[in-house]
Amino acid sequence: MIKDETNPVFRADPGRYKTMLYRRCGRSGVMLPALSLGLWQNFGNYTSYQSARELVHCAFDLGITHFDLANNYGPPYGAAEETFGRMYEQDLHLYRDELFISNKAGYDMWPGPYGDGGSRKYLVASCDQSLERTGLDYFDVYYHHRMDPETPLEETMMALDFIVRSGRALYAGISNYDPESTRRATRMLRELGTPLLVHQPRYNMLDRWIEEGLTDVLEEEGIGCVVFSPLEQGLLTDKYLADIPSDSRAAQSQIIHFSTDNITEDKLAQVRALNEIAKTRDQSLAQMALAWVLKDSVVTSCIIGASRREQIVDSVSALDNLEFSDTELAAIRQIVE
Ligand SMILES: NC(=O)c1ccc[n+]([C@@H]2O[C@H](COP(=O)([O-])OP(=O)(O)OC[C@H]3O[C@@H](n4cnc5c(N)ncnc54)[C@H](OP(=O)(O)O)[C@@H]3O)[C@@H](O)[C@H]2O)c1
Repeated sequence: MIKDETNPVFRADPGRYKTMLYRRCGRSGVMLPALSLGLWQNFGNYTSYQSARELVHCAFDLGITHFDLANNYGPPYGAAEETFGRMYEQDLHLYRDELFISNKAGYDMWPGPYGDGGSRKYLVASCDQSLERTGLDYFDVYYHHRMDPETPLEETMMALDFIVRSGRALYAGISNYDPESTRRATRMLRELGTPLLVHQPRYNMLDRWIEEGLTDVLEEEGIGCVVFSPLEQGLLTDKYLADIPSDSRAAQSQIIHFSTDNITEDKLAQVRALNEIAKTRDQSLAQMALAWVLKDSVVTSCIIGASRREQIVDSVSALDNLEFSDTELAAIRQIVE
């Protein structure tokens, strides 16, 4: 075990299961917290270990049992898994059976023909590398991260089935798959005897693509839906209303998937109008944005990101008010459509 005098052993809050809401993941035996924490940003080499650790502990103390990883989260690739692995070795292992840890492969990871895509070669090797970096014996769910039109779907699903059967993961998942491919993947995995547990799509008030067919498939097939970027990477909060804070995701040059270019005047006008509705609900805009994605029971959980613990505390308080009146829903629709 790493001896770290500045980071004493973590003891979880005994009251951690009192307020979190847990929802069933599709028609499975798995219950997931309505809010999960993702380690995509703020767990790489540019953030301190101490701050990353605080985020995970804060989340777990609030009943967030589900943590989402991928092979390429960092930067550099693999760094978020290593950060998690350090915490796990230090003390998080004491809670392994209370944790639901997901991981994924599907995007570019290492050079050459076997470090990207949907081949069995890539998925199995990547899963083994991820287990090594995290120090876990198994993942709770292993996802194919995105569709790969070059690889037969059968091969990718057989790889997920193998990953589960070989004990590397307990359940199989897919992410960013379109409705038709989701239907095909579901049926293939069912025939293989490893039912698809969960789909992980992007969903928030400004990106509602899943409403056009995907949620119908998930409901019909009994698949869970764990959505990512519910706050549109921070845009659906009050953070950018006045200016672009220097410590925000948009202002950080090492973060390539979100920049000031994403914060257009048109979007800000929508965000300002949404913020006015949030105020009438006595919620922060972040809280209303999270309540909005959770209003549909097809959504099992939403994976939030955070750069400081106060954001997690604020976001979990969204659960205090998940109800929307028809008038509120209509007003939101008018702003975002
Ligand atoms: N499957 C996939 O393809 C895929 C893709 C992307 C993400 N994901 C998963 O989804 C997770 C979440 O994605 P995301 O980080 O984009 O989620 P997000 O929740 O939409 O954005 C998180 C950012 O919003 C800001 N924020 C969070 N809570 C706040 C609050 N209460 N008040 C004000 N600002 C708040 C913070 O920005 P600042 O950093 O600026 O403070 C935080 O870093 C990832 O970690 C990953 O696990 C999956």
